Amino acid sequence: MQIIKSIEELRPIIRGWRREGLRVGLVPTMGYLHDGHKSLIVKAVSENDRVVVSDFVNPTQFGVGEDLASYPRDIERDAAICEEAGADLIFHPEPEEMYFADNCTFVDMDKLTKGLCGKTRPTHFRGVCTVVSKLFHIVTPDKAYFGQKDAQQLAVIRRMVRDLNFDIEIVGCPIVREADGLAMSSRNTYLSKEERIAALILHKSLMLGKGMAEQGERDAAKIKAAITCNIETEPLARVDYVEIVNPDTLEELEKIEGEALMATAVYIGKTRLIDNVI
Ligand code: PAF
Repeated sequence: MQIIKSIEELRPIIRGWRREGLRVGLVPTMGYLHDGHKSLIVKAVSENDRVVVSDFVNPTQFGVGEDLASYPRDIERDAAICEEAGADLIFHPEPEEMYFADNCTFVDMDKLTKGLCGKTRPTHFRGVCTVVSKLFHIVTPDKAYFGQKDAQQLAVIRRMVRDLNFDIEIVGCPIVREADGLAMSSRNTYLSKEERIAALILHKSLMLGKGMAEQGERDAAKIKAAITCNIETEPLARVDYVEIVNPDTLEELEKIEGEALMATAVYIGKTRLIDNVI
């Protein structure tokens, strides 16, 4: 497995694969890989002839005061995980390789990026759409793989691909959880032992909401209130949002009729965690 740092080196490799008629899968990541990422890579390997994992902590998706500098990084550990999962290549550029110093072109989106995480992270999805578009142009994959944990990101990328006519199939993959229910995330490494236990409140509360819907409760406001109250029983937790939305349009639902996305963002101490259930 190769680790490639420059676009100039990567492009001829991809062209060679294309000439051979090989199908290329892309798994975009910010590194510090866990079993959630590994499941994306394994799926990509099973559906493509070649798999590229991008490993890039993208500065444009972090807001002022967010954790860009402290975001965990470990390319050697990532390489071992990618190799074991069967990836062919890691694209691991420096920020200067991805962004010219005078870069002034961005990909942005209305509507879907305004609610949920977009409320407290107003520039986040502009950074995500920009870097994912750039990765799509650089790698030109047939398929790209994203986790359902970032449900808003998945909906935003599906919409971007539709609106900008990218000829790429977006594959959404299920959330991978620890045995006790905590959704896997690179940011879980920030949690102290006490916070790690407190963080279980996200999944427990969402399951409570899901249970209410399964038992016939259709009023989204009642379910949101119950989820919020349950999260607030945990002293280390501070709710950012609890929302029930259409999983594709991300529009708020008043009544649960078909599929509904119940999503939450919660601060556990200083760490902001997200989770969701359909
Ligand atoms: O989900 C992530 O890790 C990032 O947002 C992504 C899609 C790799 C873009 O930097």
